[in-house]
Amino acid sequence: MFGVVSLACIAVIFISGLFLMFFYAPSSTPVVYRGGYEPLDGATMSKAMRSTLAISFEVQGGLLMRQAHHWAALLLPAALIMQLLTSFFTGAFRRPRRLGWVLLFLLLITALVGGWSGYALPDDMLSGTGLRIVEGIVLGIPVVGTWLSTLLFGGEFPGQIIEHLYPVHVAIVPALLIGLLALRIRAGYLQKPAQFAGRGRTEDNVVGVPVLPNAAARAGGLFLIVTAVILLVSATVTISPIWLYGPSSGGNASAGSQPDWYTGFLDGALRLVPPGWEFVWLGRTWTLAILVPLAVVGVYLAAVLLYPFVEEWITGDDRDHNILDRPRNTSTRTGIGVAGIVFYGALWGAGSADLVATHFHVGVESVVAFYQAAAVLGPALAFVVTRRVCLALQKKDRQILLHGYETGRIVRLPGGEYVEIHQPVDAHERWRLANTGDGTPVLARPDERGHVGLGARARAGLSRFFFEDRLTPIPPDELSQELRQLSDDDVDESAYEASIR
Ligand code: HEM
Repeated sequence: MFGVVSLACIAVIFISGLFLMFFYAPSSTPVVYRGGYEPLDGATMSKAMRSTLAISFEVQGGLLMRQAHHWAALLLPAALIMQLLTSFFTGAFRRPRRLGWVLLFLLLITALVGGWSGYALPDDMLSGTGLRIVEGIVLGIPVVGTWLSTLLFGGEFPGQIIEHLYPVHVAIVPALLIGLLALRIRAGYLQKPAQFAGRGRTEDNVVGVPVLPNAAARAGGLFLIVTAVILLVSATVTISPIWLYGPSSGGNASAGSQPDWYTGFLDGALRLVPPGWEFVWLGRTWTLAILVPLAVVGVYLAAVLLYPFVEEWITGDDRDHNILDRPRNTSTRTGIGVAGIVFYGALWGAGSADLVATHFHVGVESVVAFYQAAAVLGPALAFVVTRRVCLALQKKDRQILLHGYETGRIVRLPGGEYVEIHQPVDAHERWRLANTGDGTPVLARPDERGHVGLGARARAGLSRFFFEDRLTPIPPDELSQELRQLSDDDVDESAYEASIR
């Protein structure tokens, strides 16, 4: 269903974007503003900013379209991230759906590039601040930085950045989005969605719902609802009021400038670096303050992209999986996921460190120190706690599987003993609780020469670690034997009724 939300955002973005193209002027040529917005009368700004102000105040429906474009661009990365998260925690990314994961990830990155390039187009003060940061990052890359910056900006800042970003925004990003989306829909259609184990959802116990008419009607309804909500929000809630920010100017940056939420984690990564992280080598200044955040974010994103392949290598499980995992049953994966969220959250929070400091009247250094600790220690702590919670939930499931649900009814037996009546689980539920995954750790095997290589040992170690903190599933015959045995021992309601009769 998050896929439908993404689709609705993309539809709104495309339709509103096409509308904006008719009126937007992708030009950094300076002009004097003589439009309908009096406070800016006589101000010098680029043609791009003037046209965006005209879209906002003079073109009929222009402001609604701008705001719809921007709100949908804010919702799209959220919907894509939710898709990635649901896929991650349920193991939906395993074979045969690994391509779907890669496509989703690429869609997210494309959406981020789209959002970032669009954010720059109005050429207001916030756009300018964002671009200035990017210029700083590019210049901080050793050896090729200056050259890259000249290439990107077409000379000294701000150069021709508007002219350069416009084709990226209205041609390359949309083409990539359409291509990736087509591949993703095709993959989804060919493989069908993975399902949770358990009861079928229709009367005749068929798993899932047919595409026509049920799934199509649901998806269509959700699509329309999401579109309607985006339009309602766009019609009533201001976003990116560039007339309040004023035109971009290289020498200024207003306090409290914030990027759109989805690029906040990149900003945060830069803000977490301790002061003075640079050294001179070979006659050049090497700014770790730029290189380290770039490397950390790069490794983080690469880890997200490659996770399905890494997990497959570690578990040695290359079978097709059409049944989803319950997150508690794969405690290591769930722990890694929560650790990843905490790390992202720490970077994201750090992106607003100055605002947190001014709102809560605390020193900005303390806020940064807090987020530094959260980025370094938080993921490890989150991993350990999550694994423990998963294990506890597995034990609870095992309890329910073997002894049924607690009913809260305490009865007294003729012999004077008090017992609580347990309601046994039905066959579907039993199946769901009993099937907790059947993976076993990969063993370190010797190669042809009889050596156990370092790679094989590392893999075996990681595999053992992956399958730790996991209750071993009870084999079906043992389970039925155990249940039979328990139903003889346990007091269920009928035994109680019989005993009092
Ligand atoms: C068919 C594809 C697209 C077209 C034709 C298009 C066109 C445009 C145009 C002409 C502008 C400048 C006008 C303005 O700033 O109000 C703009 C701004 C913007 N675009 Fe797009 N765009 C497209 C796709 C996207 C995508 C995929 C995203 C992000 C996911 C995006 C996010 C933005 C943002 C955030 C702005 C700034 C809006 C503002 O001024 O507040 N656009 N777009």
